[in-house]
Amino acid sequence: MKKESDFLVIGTGLAGLSFALKAADHGKVCVLTKTNIEETNTQYAQGGIAAVTYEPDTYEKHIKDTLVAGDGMCDEEVVRQVVNDAPAQIEELIRWGASFDRKSSGEFDLAREGGHSENRILHHKDNTGAEIQNKLSEQVRNNRNIELLEDYFAVDLITQHHLGQLVRRYNDRIRCFGAYVMDLKTDRVVTLLAKTTMIATGGVGNLYHTTTNPAIATGDGIAMVYRAKGIIENMEFVQFHPTSLYNPGERPSFLISEALRGFGAILKTRDRQEFMEKYDKRGSLAPRDIVARAIDNEMKVRGDDYVYLDATHLDEDNLKSHFPNIFEKCLSIGIDISRDPIPVVPAAHYMCGGIKVDTRGRTWINHLYAAGETSCTGLHGANRLASNSLLEAIVYADRAANSAIEESKTVRIQENIPDWNYEGTTHPEEMILITQDFKEMQQIMSNYVGIVRSDLRLNRALNRLEIIYRETEELYKKSTLSKSLCELRNLINAGYLIIKMAQDRKESRGLHYNTDYPHKANLNILS
Ligand code: FAD
Ligand code: SIN
Repeated sequence: MKKESDFLVIGTGLAGLSFALKAADHGKVCVLTKTNIEETNTQYAQGGIAAVTYEPDTYEKHIKDTLVAGDGMCDEEVVRQVVNDAPAQIEELIRWGASFDRKSSGEFDLAREGGHSENRILHHKDNTGAEIQNKLSEQVRNNRNIELLEDYFAVDLITQHHLGQLVRRYNDRIRCFGAYVMDLKTDRVVTLLAKTTMIATGGVGNLYHTTTNPAIATGDGIAMVYRAKGIIENMEFVQFHPTSLYNPGERPSFLISEALRGFGAILKTRDRQEFMEKYDKRGSLAPRDIVARAIDNEMKVRGDDYVYLDATHLDEDNLKSHFPNIFEKCLSIGIDISRDPIPVVPAAHYMCGGIKVDTRGRTWINHLYAAGETSCTGLHGANRLASNSLLEAIVYADRAANSAIEESKTVRIQENIPDWNYEGTTHPEEMILITQDFKEMQQIMSNYVGIVRSDLRLNRALNRLEIIYRETEELYKKSTLSKSLCELRNLINAGYLIIKMAQDRKESRGLHYNTDYPHKANLNILS
């Protein structure tokens, strides 16, 4: 079966939905998600969205904080654009119905997070993401120009490769015609053709066994673009959030927002000693890479499974009103955060690298855009500043929408695209083969490619991952298509890119720390 639209959008988080709503004023939009519209990383965001709103904050301060966190690897032009575009995009969110907490004076109640020199995080209690996701989902469901396909899994992008041509990476004439997508209710593959395609498929958290990301975060967009010969970069910069709730067996790990540290909560060892000052003068509010490494070190040196985040000295009513979800969640497992310290561990949280895009959100494949966590714009560099990712998602979705709308006026839908080729793929896969490889992949990535790396660990990881890669490719060739097999394949692809890029980086910078090269190298970037 074939379907056509002007704009194809893969992903229903903030990046995908905000792009869709803007494009829908100019043509027919098809938006798809592999589960339901709400199950996204966006839905789980807690702390909020960073933007300069009032003095004493200034654009220059936000720009500087972003550059400092990015550790010399941000694209300054991109940082300036995103910070400057922020207020207009926040207005857009408010127009779509999202609300942010305000003080009795009517001003936004701005929170503080690690690495920010001012209070500048707009938030909705401690569930900002759900507020944004729900309001945008409602707008999309009510938009007559948008067709929403839930339970549709994008398998591969369609390019000249599917017309029988040889497609090579770095060739600037590759074109995207749409995507092959599996209808998960029938297991049949549908050909979705479009004038332009937007990839907004989110992160890769499920590469690791402890992650704050929901199960949808399996790097599908990055792997699809890599297979289609697009360009991927900065994959070595995986952000581990320092404080996820230590609650063995729970997946995803529940996040204890950095905003709680911004509110005054303090990190302590299990014997209640403060330790962050040893590592950074900003203490518990140092940037995430520093805090996550410090916690990792304390846990290893002491042989502890977790450290504490202590909020017991803070006013109970204030805690409850600012962090109602964290309060309830902890209480549900017997922790009253106004009386008990919260056991926390670092967890894989955010991919700073991804599909390389230019300042209009265009990938290196023609008619193909990317935005949100799956993309690499140059904003985050080697380490993302807290609450800059929702901001990046909405700013770049806007830039991409403007560009795609223009492009759609001249592009035609490609004809003669063949249907999906099912040839040779007749055996239903054995689930145990997939689940075992999935577990092994998570072990490899968590043990060898986590917060602290070394050449030995990276080499070992690559050797082990190659075995699983070969097994999975074999299975893929002969098995009937399944979502779990595709996700495993995509994650292995993302893991491979992380390891290779980590091996190439002969230094420690931002989120990438290698004990064999503990210092920063001189950056000598050819521009
Ligand atoms: P997502 O919101 O992850 O959406 C991805 C979409 O792609 C989903 O609809 C998914 O189903 C779909 N998809 C993926 N693969 C396929 C496929 N093959 N076929 C079809 N559909 C597919 N950032 C901040 O700025 N501030 C915060 O306070 C904050 N808190 C966070 C808290 C948590 C617990 C987490 C996990 C993240 C947080 N982040 C925060 C990061 C931020 O939420 C994400 O980076 C951002 O929401 C990503 O949005 P997105 O639109 O790029 O992708
Ligand atoms: C948090 O609330 O700590 C998450 C913020 C982010 O990831 O940007």
